[in-house]
Amino acid sequence: MNISFAKKALPKSGTLILTVQDKSGLGPAGKELDKATKGAIKRAMVAAGFNGGPGQSAEILAPSGVGLSRVVLIGLGAAGKVTNTGLERQAASAVGKILTRDKSAVLIVDLARKTKLDDGQVAARLGFGVLLGAYRFHQHKTKVKEAAKPKLTKVTIQTDALASARKNFAPLQALSDGVYLARDLVNEPGNVIYPKAFVSKCRKLSQDGLKVSVLSEKQMHELKMHSLLGVGQGSAKESQLLIMQWNGGKKSEAPIALVGKGVTFDSGGISLKPGGGMEDMKGDMGGAAAVAGTVAALAKRKAKVNVVGVIGLVENMPDADAQRPGDIVKSMSGQTIEIINTDAEGRLVLADALWYTQLKLKPKCMVDLATLTGAILVSLGQEHAGLFSNNDKMAKELKAAGEESGESVWRLPLGVGYDKMIDSQFADMKNTGGRYGGSITAAQFLQRFTNDLPWVHLDIAGTAWGPKSPVYPGWGTGYGVRLLNEWIASNYE
Ligand code: BES
Ligand code: MN
Ligand code: ZN
Repeated sequence: MNISFAKKALPKSGTLILTVQDKSGLGPAGKELDKATKGAIKRAMVAAGFNGGPGQSAEILAPSGVGLSRVVLIGLGAAGKVTNTGLERQAASAVGKILTRDKSAVLIVDLARKTKLDDGQVAARLGFGVLLGAYRFHQHKTKVKEAAKPKLTKVTIQTDALASARKNFAPLQALSDGVYLARDLVNEPGNVIYPKAFVSKCRKLSQDGLKVSVLSEKQMHELKMHSLLGVGQGSAKESQLLIMQWNGGKKSEAPIALVGKGVTFDSGGISLKPGGGMEDMKGDMGGAAAVAGTVAALAKRKAKVNVVGVIGLVENMPDADAQRPGDIVKSMSGQTIEIINTDAEGRLVLADALWYTQLKLKPKCMVDLATLTGAILVSLGQEHAGLFSNNDKMAKELKAAGEESGESVWRLPLGVGYDKMIDSQFADMKNTGGRYGGSITAAQFLQRFTNDLPWVHLDIAGTAWGPKSPVYPGWGTGYGVRLLNEWIASNYE
């Protein structure tokens, strides 16, 4: 999708998307169009019950008096209440209406009243919303009907604040590239994205200035990462530890570490999952995808910050050589783990990834993202990711970034009582904590591998994929990329 910005001039043909503000009526371009169509726009607004409210839209086909084939009105809500996420949603829903119909469109940022955002910012956010809403994953369909094929390739956004719009849009274009990468990685099936294939996709990011390095199984053996390696033991695919460094900040500054769970397929292993819905477990690398998408976006927008992404990549399969319930493994930290359930594998991968990260990369803080527990879906549904932290400042920053970016988080507790629940009879700990508080005991497990570094764990099992909506047009959401980008941009650059 090509997004460009231009000065205002009513187009003479094709598709026009026009913004309308609540209580302010039509802007200058809307008034001009209404006059040229002898009042058809206002009549259509009344007929559709559209008054520019947030979330409203209306479509007018082939209005007489002008050559336009389609006018889509999108409501921005009251001038004082315009938000980035509201703008994104409205642009995305307009794109949803025209994607399979029109080759190009003009979107006029037509403000009757100044909003609390800069006009260029409004234009840029609408452009970002167009990109979020235009995402499709059709790679594996060979028979898409002509009428269902996306045709829209170009959206021109008209605004008076041309320079500001272009300046504000450039980093959002980079962010959208990161979101697309994360969505693609989640949507691809396990036979396409297995550990080495994930690595190959990410190696391409070195062209944007990312330093990409990989540890093989042999190297992880030498480092004694038996917790991670045990998970991949039953798979024919080799496990990998992927490290991606973006050094855009001061040389002396310790990096921020982002750590991702990358289980490219989670069958459950010997503790095999039930068949129904098991195909969703191709997305069990949603944390890894979020980390890759974020570092890609940071590199593409040349962020002034040092960030390192560490991704543990394994496939969890049942096999004659697979790990068994009852097995005891020694993690890189030296702590031993009794495997109660081979389906609680994400924490085993992260245990070694977190320990490696704090020991070898010496970050100032760590954020891990993982599709870790079904229990987080029970607690928070698909609206918030679960946040766990040993650091109130980081927790607050991420909560704020969640509200700003639209990728919300909700903090849940940690504590000694929960920690006790994972003590084991035979080893230093066990990998499950029983039926109650499943997301919390999983987080307690991870905390034992942080070495008390400031740390946040995000359980994204409920948010990494989900139902279709304008901003999330297909399964994989790319959750985490916008959140982490916002958190880094507003606190560390
Ligand atoms: N990948 C799953 C968690 C998951 C469930 C992600 C549903 C997305 C949607 C994880 O590896 C898992 O299987 N967790 C178990 C842990 C249990 C065995 C303690 C779970 O949540 O049931
Ligand atoms: Mn599992
Ligand atoms: Zn899993």
